[in-house]
Formats: sequence, C-alpha cells, structure tokens
Amino acid sequence: MIEIILLEWLEFAVRWVHIITAIAWIGSSFYFIALDLGLKKNSNLPYGVTGEEWQVHGGGFYNIQKYSIAPPNLPQDLIWFKWESYSTWLSGFFLLAIVYYGGADLYLIDTEIADINNFQAIFISLGSILFGWIIYNTACKSPLGNNSNLLLLLLFFFLLFLSWFYTSIFSGRAAFLHLGAITATLMTANVFFIIIPNQKIVVSDLKAGRKPDPKFGIIAKQRSTHNNYLTLPVIFFMLSSHYPLAFASELNWAIAPLVFLLGVSIRHYFNTYHATKKKLYWTWIITFIIFAVIIGLSSYKKNSLSLSENVIDLERIYNLEITDLNNEVHDIISARCTMCHAREPLWDGFLHPPKGFVVENKEDIKRYARQVYVQSAVSKAMPPNNISYMEDIERFTIQYWYENTQIK
Ligand code: HEC
Repeated sequence: MIEIILLEWLEFAVRWVHIITAIAWIGSSFYFIALDLGLKKNSNLPYGVTGEEWQVHGGGFYNIQKYSIAPPNLPQDLIWFKWESYSTWLSGFFLLAIVYYGGADLYLIDTEIADINNFQAIFISLGSILFGWIIYNTACKSPLGNNSNLLLLLLFFFLLFLSWFYTSIFSGRAAFLHLGAITATLMTANVFFIIIPNQKIVVSDLKAGRKPDPKFGIIAKQRSTHNNYLTLPVIFFMLSSHYPLAFASELNWAIAPLVFLLGVSIRHYFNTYHATKKKLYWTWIITFIIFAVIIGLSSYKKNSLSLSENVIDLERIYNLEITDLNNEVHDIISARCTMCHAREPLWDGFLHPPKGFVVENKEDIKRYARQVYVQSAVSKAMPPNNISYMEDIERFTIQYWYENTQIK
C-alpha cells in the first residue's frame, strides 16, 4: 500500500517537473525565434551587430543586439540555453519509464494490436527512439542535408512511417505518446549533439583568435528550424492521451502525420508574422482544413460486427425495452469496467478509481454516459489493452444505447 502511494506521488512530482521544464524550454525557444526574426537593422549599430530590437517587459526596457558572428571581446559570463531542453528530456524519459514501462501491460501493450510481452515492448520503445535519432541524424549529415526542403519532406515521410509503425505495435495511447517522445528526442538531441557543440567550437575559435567556419552556424540553424516545426506536434501528442478520439480511433495512423502538418502550417504563420509583420491568413484556412480532416478521420468506424454472425444478438438488442437495455448496459459495465472504476476498485494496484472515474451503479452510468460512450464505443480506449475482454457486440450495445436513449 505504501509503495502505491509513494509511486503515485513520484509520478505526479516527475510530471510536474516535466511540464515546468517543458514550459521553460518551449517558452525560451519561442522567445528567441520571434526575437531573431524580428531584429531590425539600422545604421547606428556597433560594428558586427546585424540587428537590434527594443522590448518592454516587467517595468523596464531592453535593447537586444545580435552579433551574427561575435562581439570584438567575448564576455566571460555567457548565458547558455540548454538545460531547459535537457531537463525536459530527462524528466520526460523518467515519466515514460514510470508510466509506460512500469505499467506496460495496461498502457504500452494492446494484445489485439500486437501480441508482445512487456520486455519486448520496452525493448522496441527504447530501440526505436535510439534508431530514430541515428537515422534522422545520418540523413541530415548526408548530402541530402544540403537541400533543406527535400530534407524536410523526407523527415515527413519518416514520421509517416513511424506513425504506421507505432500504431501497429503499441496501444493507440502509447503510439501517440511515442511519436511525441521520439520527436522530442530528436529535438533535444539536436540541441545536445549539434547546436551546442557547434556553438562551443565557434566560441573556442573566437577565443583563440581564429575565424570560425560559417558552416557550424548553418548546420545549427537547420536543426533549429526542424525544432521550430516539431514543437507544436510534440505538445499535441503529449496531450492526446486525454482524448481517445485522437489516439484510439481506427484511423489513428492517418491522424498522426496530419498533426505534423499542423505544426508546419501554424508555425509558418507566426514565423512569417514575426519576420515581416505580414499576416498570412490562408495558413489558418489550411490549418482548419487539416483539423477538420482529423475530426473526420477520428469519427470513422468500420462496422466490426460481422452481421451474419451477430444477427441474433443484434435483433435481440434492437428489440429490448429501454429498461432492459439499461440493465444490459449495466451488466456490460459491471463485467468490463467496474473492477477498476468502482469506489473501491478490486484491480490490483489501484487504491482509487483511475482518474476518479466511477461507474458502479445505474445512476453513475447515466451521469457519465458520454464518457462511457466515447471511451468504449466510439473509440476503443477502454478497457486498457482490452484487459477485461470486452466484445465488439458489447461496444455496439453501448453505442446503440447511448445514441438511442441518452442523446436528447
Ligand atoms: C484495468 C483497469 C481498467 C478497466 C477494466 C477500465 N478502465 Fe477506464 N481507466 C483505467 C485507467 C488506468 C485510466 C486512466 C487513464 C489515464 O491515465 O489517462 C482510466 C480512465 C478512464 C476514463 C477517464 C479518462 C479521463 O481522461 O478522464 C474513463 C471515462 C474510463 N476509463 C472509462 C472506462 C470504461 C467505460 C470502461 C469499461 C468499458 C473502463 N474504463 C475499463 C483503467 C481501467
């Protein structure tokens, strides 16, 4: 019992740290992107300064100047921005391990998707993240890296492949989380292995009085452009576990790549705006179209009941009186959900019902009908890993019940 309580709090604490560090990372990166794009030239700037910006914040005025190569005398106390990124990755990895590796059979695996054991699932998770970086980094360093647009296009196809791969090996929840995790790993690895080391070479060249090779700056810029476009999708994937329509619908593999396109269309608007103050409204039209397609895809459900086999069950359900239908749904939920979602759950390791969600009696079911419908009929998010062997006909019964008796 005490371990469960400690583990709960550990998870909460790590999640708290993770969100705080992520805010710091993304916040500083948005800040610098906007600053960099908005720098203005004028003739009074000191030698070596390529642009400046005036800002007002917190009761004071700031005059920021950018030396594109370096100031004549490099100051001793340079502030580096890197721990925001590293600590986000470290806390995120720790959280992945606690939630998805610790709870692999509930969260990571879906035996209806791929019948793998905990060890295999964790191995695939770690291996794919590592290989993802190796493949991406090799592509960037190869001659392909000289053509930025082609590289971005290939990166998109790589993410498309990963969407297919993860959704065919992990539960939908874990697949989306891994798309976020691998993307965020590329971003942090870009900072750790490329951007910061290149900047360090430039700094040491300058200190030694050598002229730094401009290629280091160009490479760092390319990686930071990738990071810029990947930021918003990462946040989408990290939040998606709260929304089963995103991760647990049948076409989740097709939704994921569109999320990456959303990242590009939204960032393009802001990048252009910060650079030129031009408002490209058409990018929002594209954004809304992509979002509408995502919504459409999430609502697609192929009829998984083979009619000839289920014709008797279906006839029976269609002919039930409302009270009997209510009883039927209550029976299904008691058999498939209540071991976890009761006031005192029987499931090992749960002191409280997960997310405080309780469907124990008919009143609970009526009150939370919509959640039950979304989690177990429209999507197959619940039961996790279909651990209580919910059948398609039962999901259909819930759908029929909700659509015919609960929607007013
Ligand atoms: C093995 C235990 C288990 C079973 C069985 C189970 N759930 Fe869950 N349920 C969970 C866990 C764990 C979570 C928390 C998931 C998370 O962290 O987002 C959850 C969360 C939920 C939520 C809340 C989601 C949110 O984000 O607020 C709903 C609604 C839900 N389950 C419905 C159901 C329904 C309906 C069934 C039966 C068809 C069911 N569950 C069966 C373990 C279970």
